[in-house]
Amino acid sequence: MLTIALGLAFPGAYSEAQQQPEQPAQEAPPGFQNLQVLPMDIDRRELMNYMKGFAMGLGVRCWYCHKGEGDDLSKFDFAADEKRTKAAARVMLRMVKAINEDHLSKVPREKDAAPVTVMCATCHRGQPRPEVAPLAPPPRAPQTAPSQP
Ligand code: HEC
Ligand code: HEC
Repeated sequence: MLTIALGLAFPGAYSEAQQQPEQPAQEAPPGFQNLQVLPMDIDRRELMNYMKGFAMGLGVRCWYCHKGEGDDLSKFDFAADEKRTKAAARVMLRMVKAINEDHLSKVPREKDAAPVTVMCATCHRGQPRPEVAPLAPPPRAPQTAPSQP
């Protein structure tokens, strides 16, 4: 069972702006060949929701992870494993699954509290590489000089 909440509550902004009914070529071709984390029999719509969640969460377009250019998705090779970023996203998918299923599911919470799931946007917040900026850096003692060899 794969229960990764990826924050797909956005109103389909990405696809609806681009797709037109008379242009099905804008859609990725049906039938998936190379899913290693998501289930191979995943529903097309569900897969696309994941992909849009990735793109929105990281503030990127499809080509950031997939072989292809621009907006004409019919020319993309989505199954290809050419890009480092796609491989990184697979690591992330497994990580998010583990966080939600193995850890957050075990958090003792108050009876009425709804579980909060982690999604791409939780860390990425619209950026490919999460920014790590401490809110208030703790005061630091001066570094001691490294001892001479
Ligand atoms: C952050 C990286 C990332 C972004 C952005 C992304 N994808 Fe993906 N995509 C992946 C990964 C990773 C997989 C493989 C998942 C797996 O192995 O289970 C995948 C798989 C796919 C597949 C299945 C290919 C196959 O046959 O195996 C399609 C189709 C696809 N993506 C379409 C899209 C579209 C369309 C977009 C833009 C809206 C998009 N992706 C954006 C990472 C990304
Ligand atoms: C718990 C926080 C967290 C979550 C959740 C998370 N990421 Fe990441 N992600 C990171 C961190 C931190 C890095 C930087 C790792 C490094 O290179 O040191 C990263 C790096 C990446 C990269 C590589 C970026 C680059 O160009 O080097 C991709 C792609 C990515 N994440 C995709 C995803 C996707 C897709 C999801 C949702 C399935 C996701 N991440 C969820 C923390 C997170």
